[in-house]
Amino acid sequence: MSSLDSTMPVDDRHLVTYSSLMEDLDRAGIKKGDVVLVHTSLSALGFVVGAARTVIEAVLESVGHTGTVMMPTYSGELSNPAEWRYPPVRKEWIKTIRTEMQAYDPLKTPTRGMGAVAELFRHWPGAIRSSHPQSSFTAIGAQAEFLVGDHPLDIRFGLSSPLGKLREIDGTSLLLGAPPQTCSLYYLSQHELEDKLEVRKSTPMMIDGVKKWVDYRDIEYPNHWFNDVTRYLVDAGIVKKTLLGAADCYLLPARKTIASVVDWRRKQGV
Ligand SMILES: CC(C)(COP(=O)(O)OP(=O)(O)OC[C@H]1O[C@@H](n2cnc3c(N)ncnc32)[C@H](O)[C@@H]1OP(=O)(O)O)[C@@H](O)C(=O)NCCC(=O)NCCS
Repeated sequence: MSSLDSTMPVDDRHLVTYSSLMEDLDRAGIKKGDVVLVHTSLSALGFVVGAARTVIEAVLESVGHTGTVMMPTYSGELSNPAEWRYPPVRKEWIKTIRTEMQAYDPLKTPTRGMGAVAELFRHWPGAIRSSHPQSSFTAIGAQAEFLVGDHPLDIRFGLSSPLGKLREIDGTSLLLGAPPQTCSLYYLSQHELEDKLEVRKSTPMMIDGVKKWVDYRDIEYPNHWFNDVTRYLVDAGIVKKTLLGAADCYLLPARKTIASVVDWRRKQGV
């Protein structure tokens, strides 16, 4: 078949370029000097010329050299295989998986479920990835060291975590085509509520050059209400919803969002 054959199906997705992304990010409200936690879905945007690289270049340029971009670079599989549910593994494999699983290495451990943009971002020149084996964040820019330089193992989304620090400096979170269900910022609200379910988790880490399974303290972070609260925040004018390429894009100011989420959760009892 010739490349000029008119019967060939053409790509009918929304065409997204670096230039169109810069315009859309400006319309979404991103400014020079902003500190922004970005969650992405590349395919939701349309056809992006240059794919993940273009998205990263545009977001970094939007905040400029005085700004900071952070992305989630979680590696949830560095967890106790006995607790895996999607899918569970055979009981007789568990001991072997624990023995063979590699310890967390911020340079080598891949992200899981974070998307192609976050996976490329962790390799970007100047990127700093936090030390949490399961729920690391990676940041680039003026506030990168402050945000991710010290990520406590206990209470991974707590007030001293990169999320807590994002709120401390009143950064924002941007969902770039990523569903509201993935908005990590909401986890912080759990720390403002009385109802916390403490849990113990474990993860493989290098301690003095030797891999060890290390226990840590955490709390449960329920997320079944994330979609509902997002609708409420948009309707209330707290979160700005725009289109970026073909995708819904949400901009959440950290402090105001968490304060409103806490109020909403108290009223809803969730
Ligand atoms: C899971 C999730 C990443 C899936 O989104 P996705 O768009 O399907 O996947 P990616 O962002 O990895 O993008 C890769 C896909 O983009 C598409 N793609 C490839 N090149 C592309 C281009 N130039 N332009 C646009 N899309 C392209 C392909 O479909 C590709 O999938 P494939 O590798 O299976 O072929 C997304 O739904 C999500 O949840 N994002 C947020 C994750 C997060 O931050 N979680 C944190 C807390 S839970």
